[in-house]
Amino acid sequence: MTSRRDSRKMEAPPGSFRAVRNVPGDKSLSHRALIFSAFSRGTSEIVGLGPGRDISATARLLRSLGVTIAGGHVFSAGVDGWAAPEGPLQCENSGTTMRLMAGALAGRSFTSTLIGDRSLSRRPMRRLVEPLESLGAAISLTDAGAAPIHVGGAGKLKGTRVAIDVASAQVRSAFTLAALQAEGASTIESPPGFRDHTERWLEALGRGERLSETEFRIDPGALPAGRYVVAKDPSSAAFLWTAAAIRPGSEITTPGVSLNPGRIGFLEVLEGMGAEINAEVTDSVGGDPVGDVTVRGAPLRSVDVSGSLAVATLDELPLVAILGSMAEGITEVRDAAELRGKESDRIASTVAMIRALGGGAEASADGFQVVGIGWLESGSVDAAGDHRLAMAAAVAALGTRGPVTIEGAGVADVSWPGFYDELEQTWSSR
Ligand code: S3P
Repeated sequence: MTSRRDSRKMEAPPGSFRAVRNVPGDKSLSHRALIFSAFSRGTSEIVGLGPGRDISATARLLRSLGVTIAGGHVFSAGVDGWAAPEGPLQCENSGTTMRLMAGALAGRSFTSTLIGDRSLSRRPMRRLVEPLESLGAAISLTDAGAAPIHVGGAGKLKGTRVAIDVASAQVRSAFTLAALQAEGASTIESPPGFRDHTERWLEALGRGERLSETEFRIDPGALPAGRYVVAKDPSSAAFLWTAAAIRPGSEITTPGVSLNPGRIGFLEVLEGMGAEINAEVTDSVGGDPVGDVTVRGAPLRSVDVSGSLAVATLDELPLVAILGSMAEGITEVRDAAELRGKESDRIASTVAMIRALGGGAEASADGFQVVGIGWLESGSVDAAGDHRLAMAAAVAALGTRGPVTIEGAGVADVSWPGFYDELEQTWSSR
């Protein structure tokens, strides 16, 4: 159904559906599994690595540092054996690659330059400077506080205590990866709601300790080569959960997804809107909970999302806007100014998406309001170079009268190649 340029037309059949679907390996965990393996000396194994372009960007970058990655195995001389790269390191569209690798490279004796695509080159990087400089690292950005980032070459880092004012897992992880290479322990603290995958995995590896919900101590030293099992991605599963939630009587089950508390705010929101949720922790990988999630659709009511719940739902907020349009009442999202620094200005692009489909939405400085009208109209949505927006628009087709066309649809490959076919198979399952 792909037509001219990079557009994709999605039209859902009427009625309810039932399906069990495996979603891709988690993007956040995949970046971390690759980087942790590259820190270790020897061969590590990664099971279930995510397939998206963002993950390939991290793998390619690590290869430029002399790390070998093939067939689920990573062979490295250890972080101390990383080779100085020959040119700028291309992070493409991936903020996680850029921020985590800026931290990892801050402790190296050579200088690296991190660059990205047009979207990544406008995203906020100044938040990295203070935490990394407080360890004694050298880092410089453009005057606008963006990439290219020049980092590294400052000599041995010194452990320190840092408190940041944004609940960003990426900044916390950047600091942590630098602090692992420092002399002496460090601690990092931030507001709550962030995904704490890095902290949980490092604690399991004996390289740190949680001091409170938000404070973590990093004990520098080598990471052992090992085996990383990557849970399925709840932020990808969220598109299928939403599909079921929009169509009362539908049911979707996604096995083996990460149920890290910083990732499942959206399940709380869905439940608050009236969908039926069954989420059970069945396993724990490196201290990070994993389980099967079933979502059943039911009539929806509006919801308010703010505070640490907004942080733990951040990547899913475009979906909250779609659900809000299908619900009864006014849905409001606040405390989500971070959305403005994502792959697109996700407050503006989410509001534009709802309006393009005939819905009512208003932006605010730190969120948006959506009027529940029970359905949306057929229309064309500009993906704005943002994978999560493109995929949210495709899911909206379950609640529109007529097809939804996504302009710039190919950007979904950033996290889920093959997504549109998978969604069509899901909503056609009886
Ligand atoms: C991520 C953290 C979040 C999230 C992003 C992935 C990570 O960003 O939005 O998609 O893997 O650490 P922030 O930490 O900047 O909030």
